[in-house]
Amino acid sequence: MKAIYFEETGDPQNVLLLKQFDKPTTKENQVIVKPLGSPINPSDFFFISGNYRVKPELPQIAGLEGAGIIESTGPGVDLPVGALVSFFSRNAWAEYVALSKDDVLVLPDDFPVDKAIQFALNPITAWGLLERADLKTGDWLLITAGNSVVSKLIIQIAKLRSINVIATVRDDKNTATLTAYGAHVINVNKDDLIEYVQQVTEGKGAHVALDAVGGKTGSDVLKCLQPGGRLIIYSRLSPDPIQLYSADVLYKNISINGFGIRAYLESKTAEQKASIINSLVTIIGDPQFKMEVAASFPLDNYQEAIKTAVEAKKEGKVLFKF
Ligand SMILES: NC(=O)c1ccc[n+]([C@@H]2O[C@H](COP(=O)([O-])OP(=O)(O)OC[C@H]3O[C@@H](n4cnc5c(N)ncnc54)[C@H](OP(=O)(O)O)[C@@H]3O)[C@@H](O)[C@H]2O)c1
Repeated sequence: MKAIYFEETGDPQNVLLLKQFDKPTTKENQVIVKPLGSPINPSDFFFISGNYRVKPELPQIAGLEGAGIIESTGPGVDLPVGALVSFFSRNAWAEYVALSKDDVLVLPDDFPVDKAIQFALNPITAWGLLERADLKTGDWLLITAGNSVVSKLIIQIAKLRSINVIATVRDDKNTATLTAYGAHVINVNKDDLIEYVQQVTEGKGAHVALDAVGGKTGSDVLKCLQPGGRLIIYSRLSPDPIQLYSADVLYKNISINGFGIRAYLESKTAEQKASIINSLVTIIGDPQFKMEVAASFPLDNYQEAIKTAVEAKKEGKVLFKF
């Protein structure tokens, strides 16, 4: 089977290669899935460059999530062969993937494939972040990297709950789309975030901020929170650190937490996980709910796919489709 892999960590545009591997065989508590596709996410780039929570075992097939059809199951697995599943993996960019049964989420057979391909990581992250944000109708949520897929999921789900969202972008190109999704949008490369949040919230500030950027944006976000406000950090897209002034935190009783999907899911019982998946299937499966695809590529065109994925200001996700 064909797979995209790397023999050394580094820039995905330089270190990725394509070659034939042996097809995996089913082992106890595992399933073999024939993937239909896999997204190219920032976490893939962190993984390939050796800067992710889990480290690659070289040579390493790339790709951390996807969706496909269960081809076979090993002993101890009662999942149906032929089912559409989305999955977490460490080697999704391949024509076959062996997966622990615990890393597989069964979806309805008619679930839209492009949404299934992106289901495991970002929708559950958006759900978990909103759960941790714990906001009420009318509260103000500030999110950074507003044009990311995670942010667009958050904006749409928050809208269903009548939570007000302020989203930062770094270019005006994406403002109209996010405004149409229901967010108040600020280009932080042009306007002052702290002033904007004060103005839009009529001097109150945001109840919660979800930061994926860090650097200057993350530092400004801290100053946009209202007394008792909470900052939840879930990524580090800027290479620069957040500058934290003790006075900004202590006088307003601000709390700061991190969020990681793995720890979030591990905190849930099997019933709670099933309930989250069911809710997301209903919300995201609705044709009105948008999960845009910027471009799709076969595995053979991996260099062009990666080049497209690193471009800024895309409308949606770049996918491998098999
Ligand atoms: N903690 C967790 O468990 C968890 C789970 C899932 C995802 N994440 C993280 O969530 C973030 C979003 O993921 P995604 O898949 O939704 O991403 P995505 O759709 O690929 O979008 C990436 C976004 O990051 C923005 N960006 C990149 N570099 C930036 C910088 N230096 N300053 C400001 N913005 C920058 C881009 O802005 P433009 O639109 O202007 O190009 C784009 O909107 C990623 O960092 C990912 O690692 C974390």
